[in-house]
Amino acid sequence: MKILLIGSGGREHAIARKISKNEKVSKIYCAPGNGGTAIENKCVNININSIEELKTFAINNKIDLTIVGPEKPLIDGIVDIFKKEGLKVFGPSQKAAMLEGSKSFSKDFMKKYTVKTAEHESFSDYKEALNYLRKKEFPIVIKADGLAAGKGVYICHNYDEGRNALKEIMIEDIFNGAGSIVVIEEYLEGVEASILSITDGKTIKPFISAKDHKQIYDGGKGPNTGGMGVLAPNPYVTKEVMEDFEENIMKKTLEGIKEENLDFCGIIFFGIMITKKGCYLLEYNVRMGDPETQSVLELMDSDLLELVEYSLKGSLNLFDLRWKNKSCCNIVLASEGYPGPFNKGEEIEFNKKMINNIIFAGSKLDGDKMITSGGRVLSVLGVGDSNKEAILDAYDKINFIEFKGKYFRHDIGM
Ligand code: AMP
Ligand code: GLY
Repeated sequence: MKILLIGSGGREHAIARKISKNEKVSKIYCAPGNGGTAIENKCVNININSIEELKTFAINNKIDLTIVGPEKPLIDGIVDIFKKEGLKVFGPSQKAAMLEGSKSFSKDFMKKYTVKTAEHESFSDYKEALNYLRKKEFPIVIKADGLAAGKGVYICHNYDEGRNALKEIMIEDIFNGAGSIVVIEEYLEGVEASILSITDGKTIKPFISAKDHKQIYDGGKGPNTGGMGVLAPNPYVTKEVMEDFEENIMKKTLEGIKEENLDFCGIIFFGIMITKKGCYLLEYNVRMGDPETQSVLELMDSDLLELVEYSLKGSLNLFDLRWKNKSCCNIVLASEGYPGPFNKGEEIEFNKKMINNIIFAGSKLDGDKMITSGGRVLSVLGVGDSNKEAILDAYDKINFIEFKGKYFRHDIGM
């Protein structure tokens, strides 16, 4: 089989590595890929980005299956476009991708299908939003409707902060159109968990739970990033939490997917908040998390490609999805300065024996050298029989990887 894998992050390197283990796979074209996929078994990077060019490539090269990593092409409708050409592609339709692409769409969906989530109202008028804000208690959460590179969520502690957020989003339009609608919602206190899952539109199979660490500094301080490291399984996701999640979030989401006829063979990733009053859904993503994928796929005992094929056949209910009875901690090594400005082009030196414990992200191959090319450079994987062992293993392995400006958090999984 020839696979086309779209994306360039650590998530895509992790997917490529996992898929390459399937004997049926002869070649994986990574568009555009990164330094990791440049050296991964069976992989070759191709420098193509636009959906039209990707479609032409898939047709001309007789690609058997396309897997889409990031949300952007999904929200832009790549799945519908590929399907129209008779190309096999794994991911949600453009309509289903709205569950991530529009917060007001997804919140209305949650309300309609009584998925447990924070109370909310949506506004397209600045004055109405302000009036509503005046009557509310703080803290409160204000979100830009569309994609805002992870920066569209404001936790506001008083009216002035709320007004400023509304002004930035709606009047100054700092997210270039993503804020023409805002969602104002109840603030929830608790611990977060990422639950990735796979669906064929008829069944949802949850993956092992994961705990991301979004802020840049230790102790959860500083600005948000794409994620600085992940522990799986998430120690807060107990059996009771999982039951609560399946009953009040997952099953109801599936009802909605069926009822609304969302054509959805793909990944659905639930961002949940575990509170004293049970677990609430914060958001849907329609793709795997990064860096959640790096830990979760390491623990997947089943074959990922086979799993995807069962989803595409619509027989996910028959698939026996198995997990290793282990823990995996991945620590992101970032370029100093991230998520602000940072240097690129620094050589990454690593012990070659460690290659199976490294997933590359913002890295590229320059001749025979690996160099940094992004904020989140790579993930180091630690595996163990317990969470503690996995964390210790990951922190031990960090010492074998060096580049100028290497930055990481010291409390991943703790
Ligand atoms: P989202 O993009 O909706 O996941 O929001 C990004 C981050 O904002 C989440 O990971 C949470 O840390 C925080 N957040 C979002 N919604 C809420 C809420 N209702 N209450 C508290 N924190 C929230
Ligand atoms: N790590 C969070 C995300 O992928 O959305």
